[in-house]
Amino acid sequence: MSKRKNPSGKENPNHEICEILSELAEYEKNVSRNIYKYNAYRKAAMVIATHPKKLQSGEEAKHLKGVGEKIAKKIDEILSTGKLRKLEEIHSDDASNAITLLTRVSGIGPAKARQLVDHGIKTIEQLKKHKDKLNHHQLIGLKYFEDFEKKIPRKEIEEMEKIIKEEVHKLDGDYKITICGSYRRGKLEISDIDILVTHPKYSSSDHEHHKKNTYLENIVECLKKYGLITETISLGESKFMGACKLKEDTPTRRIDIRFMPCDQYYCGILYFTGSNLFNQEMRAHAHEEGFLLNEYALKPLGSTGTPGEPVEIHSEKDIFEAINYPYKKPEERNI
Ligand code: CTP
Ligand code: MN
Repeated sequence: MSKRKNPSGKENPNHEICEILSELAEYEKNVSRNIYKYNAYRKAAMVIATHPKKLQSGEEAKHLKGVGEKIAKKIDEILSTGKLRKLEEIHSDDASNAITLLTRVSGIGPAKARQLVDHGIKTIEQLKKHKDKLNHHQLIGLKYFEDFEKKIPRKEIEEMEKIIKEEVHKLDGDYKITICGSYRRGKLEISDIDILVTHPKYSSSDHEHHKKNTYLENIVECLKKYGLITETISLGESKFMGACKLKEDTPTRRIDIRFMPCDQYYCGILYFTGSNLFNQEMRAHAHEEGFLLNEYALKPLGSTGTPGEPVEIHSEKDIFEAINYPYKKPEERNI
């Protein structure tokens, strides 16, 4: 989350509270590994970030959806003392700081970070001396630690998009390519490149029949030859993870490319555009309307709760309409 602005770009009079709640969320995700609390803090931070007036008390905050008793108490403490003891304690805890640092390495999750810290590895310097403890993904994460933390200016992805579409379409003009994630939501600074690709000749029935395909492999090979993709973390039939570099003087960036059957493309686009929180809310709404929505399909739920055959979808709008949810443009999904 940005420091002072709320998701729609306006000044956030409660940015201090939001910063603290967001940090608590990260702590719960990476150190305590309590996803329930992580979601609770994140939701509260989000709803407060969009509140236009400066909060005067925890009691007042409780009127906002997602702010309960415990968070209200914390808000009171922040308002009266300017800080939060719980967060101060977290900041003074060595192991917690080390875990938070190590999870910033691409490929190192909360469990792996904890394991490393238990082995006494607490800094990036120490990690560099224990490469034997890392897998291929984590080694690449370490190698490009500084680069991967740098935000990508929108302009740079726009340039990459042009190259990718041109090169891939030289290979086969029928490929459909969409860059999703925060880029599609119109953000100016992006942390990685999330690409979704499909081909009209590949549908979910081919996938179900385990028909081998090289659509994704061919794309990766083509972009490697061009010099845009510089590293492979992993490559399967439906997902590539790696790194790319636009120019001599631009940093190496994380890039994911997913290949999906053409009939699942729009559910995929919706999912990978996010935001994560937006997806959660839309899925919950779908459920209330009697549908199961995931990254692959929209399925009606029978009276027993068993999902039926997927609804036929030809655009993102089709999904919104089917579940009676007001259409939101990608730029309006930044919650
Ligand atoms: N996503 C998800 N759950 C995951 C991973 C990804 O829901 N475990 C979806 C989210 O909807 C997210 C999108 O995939 O919006 C891309 O994920 P990510 O790159 O992590 O987030 P972005 O929204 O693109 O933001 P950033 O600029 O930080 O990359
Ligand atoms: Mn992203």
